[in-house]
Amino acid sequence: MSTDPVTPVLTKRWLSPRSWRLSTYEQLEGYTALRKALAATPEQLVNVVKDAGLRGRGGAGFPAGVKWSFMPPNEDKPHYLVINADEGEPGTCKDIPLMMADPHSLIEGCVIASYAMRSHHCFIYVRGEALHCVRRLNSAVREARAAGYLGQNILDTGYDLDITVHAGAGAYICGEETALLDSLEGRRGQPRLKPPFPAAAGLYAAPTTVNNVETIASVPFIVNAGSAWFRSMGREKSPGPKIFSISGHVTKPGQYEAPMGTTLRQLLELCGGMKDGIPLKFWTPGGSSTPMFTAEHLDVPLDFEGAAEAGSMLGTTAVQVFNETVSVPWAVMKWTQFYEHESCGKCTPCREGTYWLAQILERMVAGEGTVSDIDTLLDVCDNIFGRSFCALGDGAVSPIQSGIKYFRDEFLALCDSNAVNAARGNDERRELAGAHSR
Ligand SMILES: Cc1cc2nc3c(=O)[nH]c(=O)nc-3n(C[C@H](O)[C@H](O)[C@H](O)COP(=O)(O)O)c2cc1C
Ligand code: SF4
Repeated sequence: MSTDPVTPVLTKRWLSPRSWRLSTYEQLEGYTALRKALAATPEQLVNVVKDAGLRGRGGAGFPAGVKWSFMPPNEDKPHYLVINADEGEPGTCKDIPLMMADPHSLIEGCVIASYAMRSHHCFIYVRGEALHCVRRLNSAVREARAAGYLGQNILDTGYDLDITVHAGAGAYICGEETALLDSLEGRRGQPRLKPPFPAAAGLYAAPTTVNNVETIASVPFIVNAGSAWFRSMGREKSPGPKIFSISGHVTKPGQYEAPMGTTLRQLLELCGGMKDGIPLKFWTPGGSSTPMFTAEHLDVPLDFEGAAEAGSMLGTTAVQVFNETVSVPWAVMKWTQFYEHESCGKCTPCREGTYWLAQILERMVAGEGTVSDIDTLLDVCDNIFGRSFCALGDGAVSPIQSGIKYFRDEFLALCDSNAVNAARGNDERRELAGAHSR
């Protein structure tokens, strides 16, 4: 396989005619990695994925091989692999296109990963609204079973695996892995207390690994071409190819595959630049839960380390691009309304806090804000961040804190102008007084 950074890997079959059919997949190297994998031991496979440095593509970037190694070696209880196909983070649109265009790459990855973790049942939990995707996956599972890649005695190796495709009910919180497990068990989706972590007690209290679609679809490529090949792309601590979902004010929005560490400047070249030439104002590197960046951050390498060093997170590489016509407080209000709606209500800081935040922002955007609203927003954010039960709370404050950090004047402009002038006058008087006393 080529190591040219612009050669597609995960998306290489997407434009083939009827790319979702088994026959197309088989013509394009499909299920060759499975044959190799089933000839290896589970430990060898875990080590290949560890050596490749594959990090979870669902947002947090946890090393996949390390996660797999937490699964117990004994089989006194069933082991489960659960695929997180909930894809709810605003701006993220990579997993559904992957499953629509190339469902067998996910299924092949599921069989390999399940074998590596001694699991005989894998669940794919698909976002509730994506019924078209559920149908496509079910039909791919049927094809794979009929061809002997799934079911009893796969490829005459004695290994058995079944895959169940499950449609969620359309709640963002069900993408959080433990809420997803509760939902899969038929309960209301709310996060569980950790520990115990899923590898100790996950689905039906049995050892479970939850992985993102893109993470698992990367596995057949690693098994076929090796960990050194995978490491030849991207950056040392974040290797491999990545699908960037680019949306907003760009000429050609869509899914763009590029190595980890690609910058927005390079991504903009791929997607035809800013739409109508209107300059960039702000953007998210990985969905609305990741603090926004501005035009100053065009050259930040988009990998887990690069995004964090510049003050944000890589998240799901959902690059939402906004031009100069967009009001930051308005966009922040829209995101906050989303978190208010999606808060599961289990813990007070997030349940109450997101509601207050949305109310304050709605008032400000309606032109009825006060200068103290900005401090109140930041104060509520402080009381949510790090004090909530799951990461939804932390994500909810990202747009607000980063929006005020970079565009405070825009928030001030929405406040009562007399009060703003008085506040500015007070600041100036304080500065003058300071200068005189020095
Ligand atoms: C509120 C919330 C929503 C999430 N939604 C998703 C999602 O839609 N898809 C996903 O793969 N991970 C999502 N995650 C992350 C998962 O909890 C988990 O880290 C991930 O599925 C692990 O897979 P990975 O290691 O392959 O990335 C979400 C996390 C939170 C807190
Ligand atoms: S942080 Fe929000 S979504 Fe997470 S448990 Fe608390 S209320 Fe639910």
